[in-house]
Amino acid sequence: MTDGFFEGPTLAIETSCDETSCAVVRGQQVLASVVSSQVDLHRQWGGVVPEAAARAHVEALLPVVELALAQAGLTFEGVAAIAVTNRPGLVGALSVGVTAAKALAWSLELPLVGVHHLEGHVLSPFANGHHDPNFPHLCLLVSGGHTELILVQELGVYRLLGQTLDDAAGEAFDKTARLVGLPYPGGQAIQEAARLGNSQAFDLPRGLRGDTRDFSFSGLKTAARRIVEANPQVSVADLAASLQEAIVSVLSDRAVEACHDLGVMELTLAGGVAANEALRQRLRGLCEKRGFCFTPADLQYCTDNAAMIGLAGNARLARGEHDGPDLDVWPSAPLP
Ligand code: KG4
Ligand code: ZN
Repeated sequence: MTDGFFEGPTLAIETSCDETSCAVVRGQQVLASVVSSQVDLHRQWGGVVPEAAARAHVEALLPVVELALAQAGLTFEGVAAIAVTNRPGLVGALSVGVTAAKALAWSLELPLVGVHHLEGHVLSPFANGHHDPNFPHLCLLVSGGHTELILVQELGVYRLLGQTLDDAAGEAFDKTARLVGLPYPGGQAIQEAARLGNSQAFDLPRGLRGDTRDFSFSGLKTAARRIVEANPQVSVADLAASLQEAIVSVLSDRAVEACHDLGVMELTLAGGVAANEALRQRLRGLCEKRGFCFTPADLQYCTDNAAMIGLAGNARLARGEHDGPDLDVWPSAPLP
C-alpha cells in the first residue's frame, strides 16, 4: 500500500459524460490510461447529446478496456479491483460504465468500488505520486459542469467552501465560443484565439463582489453576447482574451484569498478548465508570491479520464470501502 492508496492494480472506468476512458492504477501510479473522446461526434450539435453519448460509450468501451490492459502489460487475471464513476453525470452514459464494471467484478470475483466523479478530479493532481497529498489543502475544481472551492481535510473528507451560483467556468468558455463561431468545446478554442488578442479590450464583469467564496459567470456570458450583438464584426481575439482574463482573474483571486484566510499552504487545480495555460500561470505566480505550494493536475489528467477514478477508487479501497452488485448511478450527488 502507498500511503492511503490501495496497491491494486485497479482497473478503472469513466463514462460519465463524453469521454470513454479506462485506466490501470497501482496505488498512485498510472500504469495505463486510455481516453476515447466523443468531441468530434458532439461538435455537430455544439454540445453533448446524452443519448448519442451513451451509444458511443457502448461502442468504445470494450476496445478501450482491452487497450488499457495491453498498455499495462496485464490480462484480466492480473487485476485486483474494479473502480467506476457512478455519480454525478448523464444517467445513460454512467449506466454503460457501471454495467460493464459490475459484469467484470462479478465474473472475475473482484471488489467493486463506485467513485464520485468530483473526488476523481480532486485527487487528479496526485496521479503518479509526483507529490503526496498534504492535508488540509484547497482544491480549485473548474470544469464544464462545476466551479468549486473544496477544502480537502483528508482523503475522503471534503468541505465545499464555495461554488458557482449559475454557470460553470467551462460553460462560460463554451457558450461564448459558440457565440463567436469558435468550435466546441470552447475552452481550448478561446485559449488559442486569446493568444493574438488584447485582454484589456473589454472590461467584462467579474461576477459577485465583496466577501464571498462563491462565483457567478452568467453576467459575463450576457455581457459578451451584448458586445457581439452591438458589433458583429468584433475582434474574436480581443473578446476571447478579455473573457479569459475575466475568468482567470476571478478564479485565481478567490482561490488564493481562501488559502490565505484559512491558513492553508497548498492549492491544487483540477478539472477541464485547469488545462488553461493563463490560469495555470496566474495561479503559479500568485502562489509563489504568497509562499503557497501550487499543484496543478498534469494536462492529461485535467479533462475527464479514468486514471483519476482509479486513484480515488484506490483511496476508498484502502479505507476498506467497496460496493455490491446493487451499485446505482446518480445524475447529481454531493461530494462525500
Ligand atoms: O472536466 P471536463 O473534461 O468535463 C467535465 O467534467 O465538465 O471539462 C470540460 C471543460 C469544457 O468546458 C472545456 O471547454 C474546458 O473544460 N476546457 C478548457 C480548456 N480545455 C478544456 N477551458 C479553458 N481552457 C482550456 N485550455
Ligand atoms: Zn469532469
